[in-house]
Amino acid sequence: MISTATKIADFNFGNCLMNAAGVYCMTREELAEIEASAAGSFVTKTATLEARTGNPEPRYADTHLGSINSMGLPNKGFNYYLDYVTELQKQADTKNHFLSLVGMSQKETHTILKQVQASDYQGLVELNLSCPNVPGKPQIAYDFETTEEILSQVFSYYKKPLGVKLPPYFDIVHFDQAAAVFNTFPLAFVNCINSIGNGLVVDDEAVVIKPKNGFGGIGGDYVKPTALANVHAFYQRLNPSIQIIGTGGVKSGRDAFEHILCGASMVQIGTALHQEGPAIFERITKELKDIMADKGYETLEDFRGQLKYMN
Ligand code: SIN
Repeated sequence: MISTATKIADFNFGNCLMNAAGVYCMTREELAEIEASAAGSFVTKTATLEARTGNPEPRYADTHLGSINSMGLPNKGFNYYLDYVTELQKQADTKNHFLSLVGMSQKETHTILKQVQASDYQGLVELNLSCPNVPGKPQIAYDFETTEEILSQVFSYYKKPLGVKLPPYFDIVHFDQAAAVFNTFPLAFVNCINSIGNGLVVDDEAVVIKPKNGFGGIGGDYVKPTALANVHAFYQRLNPSIQIIGTGGVKSGRDAFEHILCGASMVQIGTALHQEGPAIFERITKELKDIMADKGYETLEDFRGQLKYMN
């Protein structure tokens, strides 16, 4: 019997596939669609202390090889999502979920996380250290000193399972430095990668999104090699207790297989979910199971991290 079940920290998931934060996760209705699909879980839209309208539209565009977005963290405020996942957690047949959060300042991040710590929510939190789209706010995880400072403070009071959403890194030295920081904290997971920040797509003679004169995060086919490199680099470097969620360029069972082969315990789908809708989870699960069957693998543990090198 072939299974794509997985586990992050102490949480079991019947399927390793789920949405990426930002896609099908803004409203309860969208989240309920993911809950009802073949996905093993959902992650909520990254939420801030107060609701935000985000950047001006158009702020997302599909392209030939993926997508570009500069959403600017539109969301309904963290209480909206915290209430929903707490409500679901009380239901007998519920899945386990991820609550994605970040403050507009360090102070706000701590205000949010202290409230989640004090709440009834017992599930996973993904702290987003990598949004590239808020004008004037750099991607936090590119600044290792600030990242270390935030995580030190967070783990002084936050005792529930928490992981971080990371931007892509592009240099071996940065993989080493980032992993050295993350290895000093009791993180449940790291999620690699957020979009490749601040790309530019040109159509005829113009940009395709309005914010930041067209600059935005790139997802889809463009990013898969970068995502796989980040998943594998952290798989090689992190303490085994810190699991990897692989995100970036997944639109087929083969893509999901490659993320797991590189070390991912769970795989998120962004651009392709936006383009195809929640039925994508059934298709990709089947494709992944077919590949596993061909190769004689029954569980993800049979091949996770088993990427082969050349001698
Ligand atoms: C956004 O809302 O701008 C996207 C969120 C992210 O990339 O973290």
